[in-house]
Amino acid sequence: MFDLIQRPFLQLASLVLASIVVVYEIDRRQTRRKHALLPPGPPGDPHGKYPPRLIAKWIEEYGPIISLKQGRDVLVIIGRHHEATQLLEKQGACFADRPHTVAGGDILGRGMRFMLLSTCDRLRRFRKAAHLHFQPKATLAYDADQTLYARNVILDLLEDPDSHQLHIKRFSGSVTLRVIYGKTTPTHLTTDPYLLHLKRMVPVVQGALLPGAYKVDQYPFLRYVPGYGRQLKRWGEEEDEMLMGYMNQYKSQITSDSGPHSVAKDIVTRTVNEGNFTGPETAYFLGSLVGAAFDTTQVAISTIMMAAARFPEHQAVVHAQLDAIVGRDAAPTFADWDSLTEVQAFILEALRWRPVNPFGAPRRASKDVIWNGYCIPAGATVFGNHWSIARDPEVFPEPEKFNPKRWLDSDGRINDLKAFSFGFGRRTCVGSNLALRSLYIAAATLLWSFTICEDPKRPIDDTAFVPGIVSHQKPFSLAFEPRLDVEILKEILSSKTG
Ligand code: HEM
Repeated sequence: MFDLIQRPFLQLASLVLASIVVVYEIDRRQTRRKHALLPPGPPGDPHGKYPPRLIAKWIEEYGPIISLKQGRDVLVIIGRHHEATQLLEKQGACFADRPHTVAGGDILGRGMRFMLLSTCDRLRRFRKAAHLHFQPKATLAYDADQTLYARNVILDLLEDPDSHQLHIKRFSGSVTLRVIYGKTTPTHLTTDPYLLHLKRMVPVVQGALLPGAYKVDQYPFLRYVPGYGRQLKRWGEEEDEMLMGYMNQYKSQITSDSGPHSVAKDIVTRTVNEGNFTGPETAYFLGSLVGAAFDTTQVAISTIMMAAARFPEHQAVVHAQLDAIVGRDAAPTFADWDSLTEVQAFILEALRWRPVNPFGAPRRASKDVIWNGYCIPAGATVFGNHWSIARDPEVFPEPEKFNPKRWLDSDGRINDLKAFSFGFGRRTCVGSNLALRSLYIAAATLLWSFTICEDPKRPIDDTAFVPGIVSHQKPFSLAFEPRLDVEILKEILSSKTG
């Protein structure tokens, strides 16, 4: 009897086992075949996070595209401008996807975090809505508020120069919440619940973007293991409550005809009414934009200020153009944008010098792509590495030299065709127009108002950044010398016409 029951069971078990062995072997051979053709890279199976300078060294040693094996996963890093545009732009359809992340995408983002979406209908709708709102003409709607907030930074700095990084955060937070939700009341970093929440969540979400950050991304079954990822799930719930709550808080303003123009108003009146976005999608769409905008913008402006202090000779060139074009009787506005080419060039060079996103952002190869006889296999995680691309000597000769002139053509006009700070191809940043307008008005107003200097007692370590998807400056000191009499400066910046 026992034998009768056992035999079919054993036969079935042997069959299942044999199938597993065959599938495993085929998969192993395929993986080995592909791995044999992978772009070169450092030996071994390095794990963990790689500092940008180490990646740059590998790129110099092994070539413009390198690969690293992480267990059975393949990581491909593109470190030169030409290769990044050839692959991520010219063959953009193969790299439009993001790697699937259980931790960041499914648990924390509930499958609705913009930055982590795989190619799907939701991504198409999100990108379309974002493009409509952030196209160059549409972003002009925020000029007056961006100008006002930039001037407030100067008044803040006159009161408390040591907290310059905080003042820039407040600028970035004010612009972001104004544009996304239509929030017009003053934003305080220490009391605004949304910004406090962001401060806690941004490192968590950004951390979850890096490959291998959570075991559950390698072993997805872990999410069903009781007790696993309790903290992640709690963060996910907290985030959900916050995003839905914030949208509801602004609902009456968003739906009223007299409420200020904002992304939220636009989405609610246009797309939700037309049935394109559900309520939760709207909440996560808006929250994703805030998350992507706030941190990057403030880091970029702080980098511009750091560069101004570190390279006074280039700051002097900007000052000379500001004096010639804007003069000292009124502060710069968006009307001066086209003429202030030295400000624009300085910004582009600062973004190259210390990229906001040194690693770039992860993509997933959706099919095998052959490059120079090597194979970037389907499923590989691919990064266009901004740090190394910024140091591509073919495109940026003497890359370690801070030289804004590299962004100006022989007629002194801006040539930003080699700019890469907002990414490549089909997943390029959707907010770059708004971001560049924030950087412009902040930089022009700051440099018109002050000479920004190093504090001789507390010299700047311009390599002191915390590595991550967004690389933050560690606290650093600056001194601000007003370029006008302080009372006149305050008067100009507080006046409506200044
Ligand atoms: C200086 C400021 C900024 C920098 C340096 C920056 C940079 C980037 C980069 C490098 C990417 C990834 C692109 C890629 O995969 O190749 C990205 C994506 C994104 N950015 Fe920005 N960004 C900035 C500001 C903003 C702003 C102001 C917004 C919105 C208002 C925004 C919204 C987004 C979104 C939603 C994505 C994800 C797009 C997608 O996955 O399809 N960013 N950004």
